[in-house]
Amino acid sequence: MEQKEAIRGAYRMTGGNSFYDGMITCSTLSGKAVCRLVWAMNKAENDAYLEKAMSGIPEHFSGKLLEVPVGTGVLTMPVYRAMQEADITCLDYSVDMMGQAQEKANRLNLNNVTFQQGDVGALSYADDTFDIVLSLNGFHAFPDKEAAYREVFRVLRPGGTFCGCFYVMGEHKRTDWFVRHVYEKAGFFTPPYETVSSLKVRLDGMYTDVNMGKLKSMAWFVCRKAG
Ligand SMILES: C[S@@+](CC[C@H](N)C(=O)[O-])C[C@H]1O[C@@H](n2cnc3c(N)ncnc32)[C@H](O)[C@@H]1O
Repeated sequence: MEQKEAIRGAYRMTGGNSFYDGMITCSTLSGKAVCRLVWAMNKAENDAYLEKAMSGIPEHFSGKLLEVPVGTGVLTMPVYRAMQEADITCLDYSVDMMGQAQEKANRLNLNNVTFQQGDVGALSYADDTFDIVLSLNGFHAFPDKEAAYREVFRVLRPGGTFCGCFYVMGEHKRTDWFVRHVYEKAGFFTPPYETVSSLKVRLDGMYTDVNMGKLKSMAWFVCRKAG
């Protein structure tokens, strides 16, 4: 329940003021316009897929969690407020994006969250380190997706949970058009993209207890590393 409230109020709770934060939380006027135009979603739909993506994190989780990529932290810093016992590592390639996440963590007095600049395709952590790896809106951006899948699997402990969400192609023509002609050109997204069925095959091949779905062009998933 707290997690859902945190997702719904993410923008407000972290004092977000950037265009990006408004867009990713579908909160501001311009953010809502992008959500509607590009993703054909309203705020309730946006919150719904994010709730599903984060449903792999138990309330009051107290283990080790890796979030990659954390971006500006607008979606997760409010959620981490209710996870003071957890040991949370946030990683992103962009120092600038992560700096904004760090500011939010400071504002919310999150002392159990550490930030590290790095590449998801070459993680510096030992095998089997984390109980949960969370990845929101990342895999459509990662340049080397195969390396990213491999690394996430490697650092996750047997029995650990991989959950998150990202864009899948072939579900909504207008979204596919914007991805190809705007987001890719701007360097925000990098092909190749999964489809719903290719993602299912991939997750079924690597993980157990795969629970996944999609809302418009956003796929969400929760699965477990066998062990
Ligand atoms: C669309 S943002 C998503 C951020 C955040 N999870 C969210 O939902 O707001 C994509 C992020 O992926 C990061 N990124 C791209 N390639 C990466 C890589 N190889 N390793 C780590 N982060 C990467 C970018 O810096 C950017 O912050």
